[in-house]
Amino acid sequence: MSDWNPQLYRRFEDERTRPARDLLARVALDAPRLVIDLGCGPGNSTELLVDRYPDAEIVGTDNSEPMLVEARSRLPGCRFELSDIATWRPGTPPDLIYANAALQWVGDHETLIPRLFEALAPGGVLAIQMPDNREELTHRAMRDVAALSPWSNHIDDAASVRTRILPLPDYYDLLAPRAAQIDVWRTAYQHPMESPAKIVEWVRSTGLRPFIDPLPAAERESYLAEYERRIADAYPPRADGRRLLAFPRMFIVAQRKP
Ligand SMILES: C[S@@+](CC[C@H](N)C(=O)[O-])C[C@H]1O[C@@H](n2cnc3c(N)ncnc32)[C@H](O)[C@@H]1O
Repeated sequence: MSDWNPQLYRRFEDERTRPARDLLARVALDAPRLVIDLGCGPGNSTELLVDRYPDAEIVGTDNSEPMLVEARSRLPGCRFELSDIATWRPGTPPDLIYANAALQWVGDHETLIPRLFEALAPGGVLAIQMPDNREELTHRAMRDVAALSPWSNHIDDAASVRTRILPLPDYYDLLAPRAAQIDVWRTAYQHPMESPAKIVEWVRSTGLRPFIDPLPAAERESYLAEYERRIADAYPPRADGRRLLAFPRMFIVAQRKP
């Protein structure tokens, strides 16, 4: 898969950062010393952490160099490190591990989630938000079009690139026996979008990447045209002409015993 494109990703930054804010609002820590932003992207989520905890040491990690370049120029006072979440282990136990819209790209949550939790300092908090949109029309249409010829000749098993996340109660079961406090919830944001093309633009920088990256230029164009046609049908115009994009997300905030 090609690398992330920070410019494209930042186009819907307000909409993307809202769940990051909602997640942070539920973190009941007053003065953490060490805060990790796992999968920090272009630094938008890291910036929220800096605003909330100006006295903390804040470290952003990501496995995309272009994202880290963007994050470093946005927040020169923070440290940003190249690392893969799947193998990441902190030198010093952090007080907060915050992962907004990142862990859905990493597999084996049954092992990963408890490991991240155990890496925290006593009393520390693990805060996670993940899109829960695999079964939304946007994502079903990606798979449906990919299964058709000629695109199916190039797209192998794109749907499996992004991990199938667990049902929300399973995260509760993984963490509740180890946690002093735990809070899990799911919200479906409703984003008014100017046009079907804007919906395509949004998913193009994230969920659509594994589908269009393997396609030669001509097939990519035709795939996107067919995908947009289906999106136009799936999201009809509302009273003001805009399309309402439902975007479910799940949230997990768990605190270790002191
Ligand atoms: C959707 S962006 C989220 C960025 C930011 N946290 C936010 O709140 O908008 C997902 C980020 O996770 C990173 N990522 C994906 N898989 C990763 C992995 N295995 N290890 C580290 N970072 C990863 C991507 O490079 C990307 O920057």
